[in-house]
Amino acid sequence: MSRRILMTAALPYANGDIHLGHLVEYIQADIWCRFQKSRGHECIYVCADDAHGTPVMLRAESEGISAEALIKKTRDNHVRDFAAFHIAFDNYYSTHSPENKALASSIFLQLRESGHIAEREIEQLQDAEKGIFLPDRYVRGDCPKCGTAEQYGDSCEHCGAAYAPTELKNPRSSLSNTPPVLKTSKHYFLCLSAMRDELREWTQGDEINPAAPDTRVTRLQKGAANKLMEWLERDLHDWDISRDAPYFGFRIPEVPEEKYFYVWLDAPIGYMASFKNLCARTGMNFDDFWRPGGNTELYHFIGKDILYFHALFWPAVLHHSGYRRPTRIFAHGFLTVNGEKMSKSRGTFITAEHYLNCGLNPEWLRYYYACKLNDRMEDLDLSLNDFNFRVNSDLVGKLVNIPSRVAPFLHKLFDGGLDECDRGGTDFDIMVRPLLDVEEQVATAYESRRYQEAMRLLMRATDTINAHVDAAAPWAIAKDTARREELHAVCSAATRAFHLLMLMLTPVLPLLATKAGEFLNTDMHWGEKLHPLAAKHVINKYKHLMQRMDNKQLERLAQSKKTPDKSPPPTKDEPANKSPIAIEDFAKMDLRLATITAAEDVTEAQKLLKLTLDVGDTRLRQVFAGIKQHYAAETLVGRQVLYLANLKPRKMRFGESEGMVLAATDGKGDLQLLTAADMPAGAKVS
Ligand code: 2FM
Ligand code: ZN
Repeated sequence: MSRRILMTAALPYANGDIHLGHLVEYIQADIWCRFQKSRGHECIYVCADDAHGTPVMLRAESEGISAEALIKKTRDNHVRDFAAFHIAFDNYYSTHSPENKALASSIFLQLRESGHIAEREIEQLQDAEKGIFLPDRYVRGDCPKCGTAEQYGDSCEHCGAAYAPTELKNPRSSLSNTPPVLKTSKHYFLCLSAMRDELREWTQGDEINPAAPDTRVTRLQKGAANKLMEWLERDLHDWDISRDAPYFGFRIPEVPEEKYFYVWLDAPIGYMASFKNLCARTGMNFDDFWRPGGNTELYHFIGKDILYFHALFWPAVLHHSGYRRPTRIFAHGFLTVNGEKMSKSRGTFITAEHYLNCGLNPEWLRYYYACKLNDRMEDLDLSLNDFNFRVNSDLVGKLVNIPSRVAPFLHKLFDGGLDECDRGGTDFDIMVRPLLDVEEQVATAYESRRYQEAMRLLMRATDTINAHVDAAAPWAIAKDTARREELHAVCSAATRAFHLLMLMLTPVLPLLATKAGEFLNTDMHWGEKLHPLAAKHVINKYKHLMQRMDNKQLERLAQSKKTPDKSPPPTKDEPANKSPIAIEDFAKMDLRLATITAAEDVTEAQKLLKLTLDVGDTRLRQVFAGIKQHYAAETLVGRQVLYLANLKPRKMRFGESEGMVLAATDGKGDLQLLTAADMPAGAKVS
């Protein structure tokens, strides 16, 4: 039975480039959408730019353009990048749209009408220097739950806790690095804390599995449901959905003050607005997909970092404003590159544009991600060597190798026509039948987002086909005119097998599939059941279908990013690659061994400890070291450290710092004080 599906991927912010981390999600969702469409279901994939909020406002200000101009420019870039990676949205819109304004306003009024909005005076952090109320992400400090330093004001990356920025310990404004001040102002809240029971039931519940209606599936992945239970039991608070001016967003209607909707209220409503915009163009019925009982399915693909918004706030907003809740939410993990988090300063922050500028084929990345993706929230690593190997070995060496080895004989000796064995025969049984046998397994793997499994099944079949072509050696049989039938059989079966392989790979490799369709002279539509190419089907001339990946392309990719102008300067924790220095420069340093005789916390400073050093002469030295996040003061007394004695003294707010103690990072954020034992043999330290 044909299904009616609406699906979304998270809306990228309108103040940044699309990067390879984003693409994990858009590609994952695009593969799923193409799979559903290819099997004959109605599946609509919508997205939009997430245009509102303080960061967009500040970014526009820093570029000296209006917020509207910035969001237009960014959206154009996003649309270009998505198209290049074959992400085929049915609609790509913006949250700064009339549809979204109308929907957000009516949803707010509905929520208020049904008694789910509370008004409360709250104290909020403001950057006094800039006169701006600080969004959660612009306040940093120590996590109120676990104490980890340098956490954003909304949630802790270390323990996952969600909290208000006012709960942070030692807060600083990221705009001016000054401590923020508290201001009182009236705000509007969604009364989430009264919804604990219904949210528990919804997040822990299941649904009829639309892909196999006699089974049931959980709405959330197991890991996600567990995480939500923790939040529900411990951290469920009413949710502030309003913001004070200046703010780039929609004015809240029918309230006496100048208030704006918080960006996270109107962002998911942007899913609806994008769809509504599509309905106006196509005549589809909005309510079929958004009102309860519509017999349609709704899915959100998201990263695990925004689970809280999608699995708690969003269902609550929908349910209490008369809309349906999502059928399921699919969360994925983060991308690492060569095992590390992408980082601007380390040059591992790779934008979609940079990838394309290196001449890398977008389908290579789609395939690689497919090989790595499963249905869990695990992180996914783009290992560049493995990437190179998989693309060249699987796609070029195995997949397109099949037609390149058999098609020339079909043309030269059989006018491009296949034989009559479209249902059986030895070659058919060895090369084509296994693909028919594995079809349902591959389909189930796609349906369940276990693309890794689907790719494994298909590559295993590809190995079998290649092994059989090797054994049959058409290039040898072709020399013997008495063996024409045998030659025709093996070349035809291999071509039929390639066709079925490509049909099942279409969701991942849509462009390659189109080219294969031209060569095979057929539509590339999977449908309900695979059908091998018919008896005597005539194919077109084979043209090479895919190039190999060149090491040089990957070297370029690994090199620093293409947009130095846009990247913020490296933070103190992320050293930039510095240019080489001469030995004479190094020799200028007066390095000494010193013993820490006292260490104390500088409470007014986020990172500093005050150290007293004995360097073996008559005078103790005082040094302020930015190592508070890495060392507790009391653990340092008595330690020997390396000390740079002739660094120009520096006057600081807390006193003078004379010289510096040396420390080194491991490149992952860990930092260690150096001692004499860390110096290479032969290095001289007095
Ligand atoms: O985290 C983000 O990048 C948000 N812009 C995602 C929004 S998704 C949805 F809710 F709109
Ligand atoms: Zn924490």
